[in-house]
Amino acid sequence: MTNKKAKLKLGNTSFSYAPAPESTSHVNIKSQYDLFIGGKWQKPSSKKYFTTLNPSTEKEIAKVALADKTDVNKAVMAARMAYETTWSKLSGKERGKYIYRIARLIQERAREFAVIESIDGGKPIRESRDIDVPLAAAHFFYTAGWADKLEYAFPQREVSPLGVAGQIIPWNFPLLMAAWKIAPALATGNTVVLKPAETTPLTALKLAELLQDAELPDGVVNIITGAGETGAHLVNHKDVNKIAFTGSTHVGKLIQSAVVGTSKKTTLELGGKAANIIFEDAPIDQAVEGIINGIYFNQGHVCCAGSRLFIQEPVYDQVIQKLKDRISTLIVGDPLDKNTDIGAINSKEQLKTIKKYIKAGLEEGAEIFQSACSVPKEGFWVKPTLFTGVAQSSKIVQEEIFGPVLTVQSFRTVDEVIQKANNTPYGLSAGIWTDKGSKIFNLTSQMKAGVVWANTYNKFDPASPFGGYKESGFGREGGLQGLAPYVQFN
Ligand code: NAI
Ligand code: MG
Repeated sequence: MTNKKAKLKLGNTSFSYAPAPESTSHVNIKSQYDLFIGGKWQKPSSKKYFTTLNPSTEKEIAKVALADKTDVNKAVMAARMAYETTWSKLSGKERGKYIYRIARLIQERAREFAVIESIDGGKPIRESRDIDVPLAAAHFFYTAGWADKLEYAFPQREVSPLGVAGQIIPWNFPLLMAAWKIAPALATGNTVVLKPAETTPLTALKLAELLQDAELPDGVVNIITGAGETGAHLVNHKDVNKIAFTGSTHVGKLIQSAVVGTSKKTTLELGGKAANIIFEDAPIDQAVEGIINGIYFNQGHVCCAGSRLFIQEPVYDQVIQKLKDRISTLIVGDPLDKNTDIGAINSKEQLKTIKKYIKAGLEEGAEIFQSACSVPKEGFWVKPTLFTGVAQSSKIVQEEIFGPVLTVQSFRTVDEVIQKANNTPYGLSAGIWTDKGSKIFNLTSQMKAGVVWANTYNKFDPASPFGGYKESGFGREGGLQGLAPYVQFN
């Protein structure tokens, strides 16, 4: 699909960008994928395959095997065997070499991974190319360095691996979430069964090919595909020692109740409803860019998206006007076009959810602003949306929308905004924009959020732990803290 000329209207002047589509000639996607178990591609015992679509065209990209209970069992047995016979016997230094090799191969194939991520999931190529893939490689690089230094990671403690880790990941950052899960498991000596989301399995399956090229011993990482039922089989398997999950709070709760009374360790990274707070002394233009990035980045399919904006009264009108101007220039369309700011919504279901919330906002009497841009006929799209005139109790302020929809409220005092910002069942992230360092320190200590960005938003680093409070889940990923959930202290 090629973009129609993207039109931008700035004041009285219209600009248009010629399409700049990323080439797909270097991309190799098979028409059908089997399950990656024990280092080999195996046909599913279910004999069933499902389709993964390109959400920007609604066309089928490939058929993917549906793993049933027998397949899940095979994958767990392969992981157990690899754990007992090879992986737990290797020194940290040897494990680290493999992880470095994976990192380097991702870098070498970065363009192919980026294009596949955008085709399968709908995110703009600019993001998959500049964020998802480089961060995935960086995560493997960073974590590889710990593999032979666990005695420094956990000083004066003797640690050992847990065994087999079952890992279930979502569709918003498919390769990056695979990296966040696989790298620390391998570095600490565990083996893995990973299940990517059903709408975005392709980069994980590409990663399986890469693991073969890296000559990772058979069965150390197994990749199985399927939907919720496949995930549930993995969670309930008796020989899995650890479950790492990223996804909805609803499924997170199901998983937590499924593991109660077992010895399985769990980490859950769930939803969010982050507050982005703009004080009157903030650098306004920089803040407006940060707000835009915070909510419209990746179509708002981000658990830490800055979806609730709080603006201090004296600058309220100014910030709203600048936001509307900026929203009007955002380019929505072909994910493979390098000009695109907002790509396709990941699936028909997610599109339905977002539309349901926009309708709820209107029914509750909120005032809507959407850019005047046109969107392609085929595919799943939502224009960048801003709601003003919302109440703290509004459904769209309380619930996670997971789309490019921002709600705006004003505030007068620091205490008031802290109270409002914390008034949510979630606690994953927050943003603060101010010129005053003291205000930043005051707020960061009072906000119930795992990550607080100051004068920036959506910045990630493999050395920095990520995770939530309250219904956003528990456990940390990344950094030194991200290793702890994969070891037992002897
Ligand atoms: P989901 O939580 O159903 O899917 C995430 C992963 O869990 C997928 O791999 C899915 O196959 C698997 N899964 C589903 N049911 C399962 C079960 N019973 N046991 C084990 N694994 C299971 O998320 P969904 O339905 O795709 O999205 C719904 C909402 O969840 C979104 O609108 C958004 O609000 C939130 N979400 C949050 C994410 C985050 O990064 N925190 C990521 C994706 C969705
Ligand atoms: Mg897809």
